[in-house]
Amino acid sequence: MTISISAGPADLGTLDTPLLVLALPDQAGATTGAPPALESLDMALGGALGRTLRRGDFRGKRDESLHLSGGDAGPQRVLLIGIGTPTERAGAYRRAGALAARQAAKMGVGSMAFGANGLSAREVEALVLGLSAGAWEYTDTKTPPPEAERRAPLTSARVLGSDAAALEQGVAAGVALAEGHGLARTLGMMPGNLCTPEFLAQTGRDIGARHGMNVTVLGRMELEALRMGSFLCVAQGAPQEDPKLIALEHWGGKKGDAPVILVGKGLCFDSGGISIKPAQGMEWMKFDMCGAAGVLGAMETIGRLGLPINVVGLVGSTTNMPSATAVKPGDVVRSMSGKYIEIINTDAEGRLVLADVLSYARQYKPAAVVDAATLTGACVIALGHTATGVMGNDDALVQEVLRAGTTAGEPGWALPMWDDYKELIKSDVADIKNSGGRPAGTISAALFLAEFANEYPWVHLDVAGTAYTESDLGTVPRGPTGVPVGTFVEFVRGRAG
Ligand code: BES
Ligand code: MN
Ligand code: ZN
Repeated sequence: MTISISAGPADLGTLDTPLLVLALPDQAGATTGAPPALESLDMALGGALGRTLRRGDFRGKRDESLHLSGGDAGPQRVLLIGIGTPTERAGAYRRAGALAARQAAKMGVGSMAFGANGLSAREVEALVLGLSAGAWEYTDTKTPPPEAERRAPLTSARVLGSDAAALEQGVAAGVALAEGHGLARTLGMMPGNLCTPEFLAQTGRDIGARHGMNVTVLGRMELEALRMGSFLCVAQGAPQEDPKLIALEHWGGKKGDAPVILVGKGLCFDSGGISIKPAQGMEWMKFDMCGAAGVLGAMETIGRLGLPINVVGLVGSTTNMPSATAVKPGDVVRSMSGKYIEIINTDAEGRLVLADVLSYARQYKPAAVVDAATLTGACVIALGHTATGVMGNDDALVQEVLRAGTTAGEPGWALPMWDDYKELIKSDVADIKNSGGRPAGTISAALFLAEFANEYPWVHLDVAGTAYTESDLGTVPRGPTGVPVGTFVEFVRGRAG
């Protein structure tokens, strides 16, 4: 991680820091100046904070920010960030943390402090995730600017408060979450020629080595032995590159307890194959491995937290390419489950990969399986970039995953899985076809997966709209958002009790 986070007592007036950030709620027309808790700081600033609030220059509206200049000693700069009237405090602090860290990085201050008095451990955790997420940057494939133009990168942040236990707990959990989150975003941002199936496999091996997990990586030969004709028909268009099924096993729970399984779609690039996509915006399809990145990121966090539960992470990774060997529309393949699939559209490849990975999951006799995939453009049309599409074969599990997403600040929305929609994927020549066309595209894709997830409780997350953003969101620049790491971790934590 690029930023190190520590905790300390809140001595706001005397603290020697290049930047002190305060998150303030809606001031609701307050004209009295600095609140008592900030009086020593106000004095250090020569009354500038009180004047600013009295004059209404800063009102604490959500995302509002105001920069005050401090003296040479104590806080040298103060940044006020508004959090409005939050319905959900943890989310508000996460947001404020991200905005503050992004501004601090732009200022080039190197280190910062954040006033966190009165925050619960959970709120500190959210704040720490926000700070790290805001400081996150992908620079691996950019030449650094010349020394003279370089600004100091933000390398450390100090969270200030008086509840040492809440701070310690919140920082530890927040850092663990931030590491997984940052890993997922880096994998997402990496170009497809660098983030290959083998690279994801190596990332899985590294996570396993760090946290004592069993790691298994299967290549084309092993997938053939398992008769994964559905996964393999996608990989056959890229014969020069070995597809990978990556399994990470975290046996943190009781021996014999059924594991929870996290599954991720890992298409390192999705050209559409023979049903090729239009050139406009095709580069965004390097993000088609964000489900896999979510699984790897979540496993990193789960390992760091040492959660007392059995968890298996499964990733199916390949690249969808048109070539002389590529699968064609009209072809029929046999999946590992024995079900025959008619390929209608080679661009509906994610479900073909996941079908066999979901069958592979059966051997674990899982307590629950949750998959995440950038599966359908239709989901972006239905829910935009705001909510993840949530579907499954078990209502209680769907509700549990929805709650986990809400708590993590990664909201999802349930879509119906009615039998009527199954008509869309009936085939004339096979047991099922891989595309139901445009109507209810997100639901028909999930119903396709359901055919292979029929032996255990299962939920599918369509993160096509939420795993990355094509516009700057203020808290997150263009690129990967870290979704669904938080949802996965929160779900597993809930199960760990
Ligand atoms: N990876 C895409 C889905 C996608 C589209 C994710 C846009 C993010 C943004 C997936 O493999 C795909 O191409 N799906 C097709 C399915 C169709 C052919 C039934 C789609 O959504 O158009
Ligand atoms: Mn596709
Ligand atoms: Zn895809």
